[in-house]
Amino acid sequence: MPQILVTGGTGYLGHEVLKALEKRGLAYELLGRAQGFDLFWPFQIEERFLRKYGSEDQDLLLLHLAAMSKVSECQEKPEDASRVNVESTGALAQCIRSLGGRMVFTSTDLVFDGEHPPYDEKALPKPLMVYGETKAAGEDFVLEDANNLVLRLPLLYGPSFDGRHGASDPLLHSLRKGERVRLFSDEIRTPLEVSTAAETLVDLAMKPERKGIQHLPGPKALSRFQLGWMLAERAGCDVSLIQEASRLDWPGAPRPKDCSLATLVSPLDEPKEPEKGQGTALP
Ligand SMILES: NC(=O)c1ccc[n+]([C@@H]2O[C@H](COP(=O)([O-])OP(=O)(O)OC[C@H]3O[C@@H](n4cnc5c(N)ncnc54)[C@H](OP(=O)(O)O)[C@@H]3O)[C@@H](O)[C@H]2O)c1
Repeated sequence: MPQILVTGGTGYLGHEVLKALEKRGLAYELLGRAQGFDLFWPFQIEERFLRKYGSEDQDLLLLHLAAMSKVSECQEKPEDASRVNVESTGALAQCIRSLGGRMVFTSTDLVFDGEHPPYDEKALPKPLMVYGETKAAGEDFVLEDANNLVLRLPLLYGPSFDGRHGASDPLLHSLRKGERVRLFSDEIRTPLEVSTAAETLVDLAMKPERKGIQHLPGPKALSRFQLGWMLAERAGCDVSLIQEASRLDWPGAPRPKDCSLATLVSPLDEPKEPEKGQGTALP
C-alpha cells in the first residue's frame, strides 16, 4: 500500500477527496500551508519534501490538488499563478520522480480554447487565459514521468464544506437572498458533481496502471445558465432570478465558448490487455 500524500486537502475538491479516502479506509497525510508546504515557494517545497520523505522506504502516492484555482486571480497575478501552478508542480513532480513514486495531478477543461469541442485525451491544449496556461504547463511537468496521471476535470458543482465553493453553493446562496444572478448562456462545459469527481479520482489513483491523461466529463454538456437553472430548480429556488449573460461582455479573462470534455477510455473501465504487436490500450 503506498503512503498517500494530499495537497489541497483544505479546498473544495480536497474535502471530498479526503472523505473518499476515509470511506475506503485509506490513511493519508496532508501537505498544505499548515504543514509548512506553501506552493508559493517552489524551492522550499522541494527541499522540505525531500527532507521529510527522502528516506521513506514506502512507495509514495501524491494527490496534487492544490492550485491557485480562481481564473480572475490568475489573470491578475500571472507570476504568482506560475509559481503555484507551474513551478511548484514541477518541483513536486521532480521529488516524486527522484523517489520513485507516483503523482496524480488535477487539471482542467480550461486548458482548451473552446473552439473544437468535444475534447478527448488526444486533443492538444490551447489555453485562452492564464489559469489554463499554468495548468497546461503543470501537466507537462507531471507527464514527464510515464507513471503519473493527469486528470482533467470539468466545472464541479455540489455542496461545499463552507457553503461558498463550487458552481452551485454561491449561486444558491444569492438566490435564497432574493438576489438576481447573471449566468453565461454561451459558455458550455460538461459539469460534474464534486463527490463523483473525488470518488473517481481516488479509484483511479489507486490503480497504478491508469496513467497519462484521463478526462472526467460530466454526463451532459450544459451552459452556465442551463446548469444554474437546473440546480436552482432542484433546490426549490426562484429560477426567474437567473438572467442570461454573454461571456463576450465579460470584462475579465477571455472565456472559451465550449470546453466540453469527452473521453477515449471510460474512467473506471478496466484497461484492456494490449493485443500482440500493439501498444497500450490507454490514451
Ligand atoms: N472546482 C472546479 O470546478 C475545478 C474544475 C477543474 C479543475 N479543478 C482543479 O481541481 C483542483 C482543486 O480545485 P478546488 O476547486 O478544490 O480549489 P480550491 O477550493 O480553491 O482549493 C485550492 C486548494 O489549494 C490550496 N492552495 C492554494 N494556494 C496554495 C499555496 N500557495 N500553497 C499551498 N496550498 C495552496 C488551498 O489551500 P488553503 O486552504 O491553504 O488556501 C486549497 O486547499 C485544482 O487543481 C483545480 O485546478 C477544479
